[in-house]
Amino acid sequence: MKDIVILGTGSAAPDNVVTNFDLEKIMDTSDEWIVQRTGIKSRHIVRPGEKFSDFAVPAALQALAAAGVEAAELDLIICGTMTPDHLMPAGACSVQALLGATKATGMDVCAACSGFIYGLSIAEKYLKCDPEMHILVIGGEIVSHHLDWEDRTTAVLFGDAVGAAVVGCRENYGSKLKAVATGSDGNLGRLLYIEGLGSATPVTKDFNIDDNYIKMQGREIFKHAIRNMVDVSNQALEKAGYTVDQVTKIIPHQANMRIIEMLAKQFKKPMDKVFVNIDRYGNSSAGTIPVALNEAVRSNFLVPGDVVLMTVFGGGLTWAAAVLEW
Ligand code: COA
Repeated sequence: MKDIVILGTGSAAPDNVVTNFDLEKIMDTSDEWIVQRTGIKSRHIVRPGEKFSDFAVPAALQALAAAGVEAAELDLIICGTMTPDHLMPAGACSVQALLGATKATGMDVCAACSGFIYGLSIAEKYLKCDPEMHILVIGGEIVSHHLDWEDRTTAVLFGDAVGAAVVGCRENYGSKLKAVATGSDGNLGRLLYIEGLGSATPVTKDFNIDDNYIKMQGREIFKHAIRNMVDVSNQALEKAGYTVDQVTKIIPHQANMRIIEMLAKQFKKPMDKVFVNIDRYGNSSAGTIPVALNEAVRSNFLVPGDVVLMTVFGGGLTWAAAVLEW
């Protein structure tokens, strides 16, 4: 019996690193406030002209190499992103062309930060129908294009990064994807949103640039994030047939260090079992989980036998969790 497995992972981020001290020079903030309230020390921010595929493609190539799968063998590319290169074609189609993945179907999933695990959930369903498929799931964002650098309540929190995983079915293999759970609540959409660029507020000559920026009610989001990540994690664990006590490693959404610590406390795990890279990336939206997964794999944070819980939360509102047996 073949299992659905993560065959390889990869990630990439702009080489331009912006520290809290850099931000101190352009807005009324301080390294001390940002570190204390969020855990973020620096983030990667694109230079002018850099776009989603500039990072999605190297992340994908790294994942394909680790998986031992050729781009031409891919059947499906799913991009969890709200910042593809263009509104049309889909980011997955841009990536497909650049990779030469001629056999693949490409589609995007717009679920904000939850995009990568939503993508894994779709991949899981395809693979249950057709175990011969090879699926590239990408998650990431050029979120800085939607930051108002005069709004200290949002600008300090986010960064740009993209991660990827190749998923397929194998026998007698580690890194099994055991279960995925997802959820959303559109009634709470206005707690975290970008007003413009959609059909409700199209770009006209009178377009208000403020409508291009992320708006967020931070405290409300904080509460919903913890509650929903705990609930959806429990759902995924139940589906996988595990209890929370059996989880050995957690890869959480990297949105705020205090949220990560509260999750660890809820799940009764010491912080050394929780993967953290928020200090170097900030919140890269759909990039947080696949970038953290890739770094967790490559740094040997994950070891064979680990029961890994990944959990995420984002605009929509959306939330998701996945359980891996490493
Ligand atoms: N630098 C300095 N001061 C800042 C600041 C910054 N970057 N941002 C806000 N402040 C100030 C506020 O103006 C406020 O000042 P006041 O008391 O004089 O009014 C004070 O700090 C406290 O602001 P508050 O918003 O209450 O802080 P907080 O402890 O709730 O932290 C967040 C703010 C955004 C860090 C926190 O609410 C959070 O992380 N929420 C979740 C966000 C999230 O995860 N979003 C993504 C989901 S995918």
